[in-house]
Amino acid sequence: MNDLVDLVEAARAEFTAAPTPAALEDAKARFLGKSGRVTELLKGLAALAHEAKKARGAEINQAKAAIEAALQARREALAAAELERQLRAEALDVTLPGRSRGTGSLHPVSRTIERIEAIFASMGFDVAEGPEIETDWMSFTALNNPENHPARSMQDTFYVDLKDAEGRWLNLRPHTSPMQVRYARQHAARHAQEIAAGRPMPEIRVIAPGRTYRVDSDATHSPMFHQCEGLWIGQNVSFKDLKVVLSDFVRRFFETDDFDMRFRPSFFPFTEPSAEVDIAFRDGPLAGRWLEVAGSGQVHPNVVRNFGLDAEANIGFAFGMGPDRLAMLRDGIDDMRLLFEGDLRFLAQFR
Ligand code: DAH
Repeated sequence: MNDLVDLVEAARAEFTAAPTPAALEDAKARFLGKSGRVTELLKGLAALAHEAKKARGAEINQAKAAIEAALQARREALAAAELERQLRAEALDVTLPGRSRGTGSLHPVSRTIERIEAIFASMGFDVAEGPEIETDWMSFTALNNPENHPARSMQDTFYVDLKDAEGRWLNLRPHTSPMQVRYARQHAARHAQEIAAGRPMPEIRVIAPGRTYRVDSDATHSPMFHQCEGLWIGQNVSFKDLKVVLSDFVRRFFETDDFDMRFRPSFFPFTEPSAEVDIAFRDGPLAGRWLEVAGSGQVHPNVVRNFGLDAEANIGFAFGMGPDRLAMLRDGIDDMRLLFEGDLRFLAQFR
C-alpha cells in the first residue's frame, strides 16, 4: 500500500517537474507506458492468489487513476501557461495613441498670395504667372533700365550660366516687373486689330505674384523671396486710381480702417513719378510706425512703348509689393528666414 502512495507521489513530482508537454509525455511513459511502473505492477498481479489479486488490483487501479488525474492536471496547467504566454506575446495596448499622418496645410506665404489674388480679382484684376529665369531685356532693358546704367546696381542679381539670343546672360528675375512687359505685350497682340484701327483697347489690369531672387540675406531679406507685381493701363488711369486701389487693398488685407497711408517720393527707372507706399496702423503692436508696403508709380512712357503701345494714348500705374513682408506683418513674424527654413514647428502655427 505504502509503495503505491510513494509511486503516486513520485509521478506527481515528475509531472510537476516536466517543463514542456513533450517532457510530460516522457514522464507519463515512465509510469503508464508499456513498460511503465504501473504497467509492471499490473503484470505482477498474475502471480497472486485470487483474493489477494482482487484487493491489490483495486489498489493499483486507484493509484493508476490518481496518476492519470495528476497527468491530466499537469497537461492542463502546461496548456494554460502556453496560452498565457501567447496572449502576452501578442498583447495589444488599445490605450496607446495611434500613429496619425500629419495633415498638410498651406504655407503662410501661399496663403498670403491667395489672399492678395482674391482681393485684386474682386477689383477686376487678372492674375498672371511668368518665368523665373528671364532675359536681360525683360528684367532690365524693357523696364527703362539701360545697359551700364547705375540704376541696375539697385538689384544684386543672380545670373545663369546661359546666354539668350542676344548673347546676354540669363538671370534669375530680381523682381516680378518683367511680367508687366510680358503681359502687356500679349494683351497688345490680342487687341492688335483695335489698336491698328485707332480704337481704344480694353484696359490692362493684372497682378503677377511669384518667386524672385537677389543676392541678399538677413532677417528681412532672403535670396529667394516673393513679389507681386501690379499693372493698370488704360486711356485715363491716374495716380488717384492707384491710391484708391492700394488703400482698398490694405484695408481688406489687414481687415482694418485704422491706418494712415502715405506716398513717399522715390525712384524706379520704369515709373515716373515714383513713390514708395507706406502705411502706419493707428493701434496694435505696430502702431505709429511707418511700414513700407509697396513701390509704385506712373508707368514711364519708354516702358509703355516697350509694351508695344502708344505712350500718348495709354497711361497708367504699376506697383510691386512683397507677400513675404505682408505675411510677416499680418502674422507677426519677425524673421523672414523662418518662412523658408521648412521647420514644421513654425509652419504648423499657421494652419
Ligand atoms: N520692381 C521693384 C523692386 O523690385 C518694385 C516696384 C516698384 C515695382 C515700383 C513696380 C513699381 O511696379 O511701380 O524693387
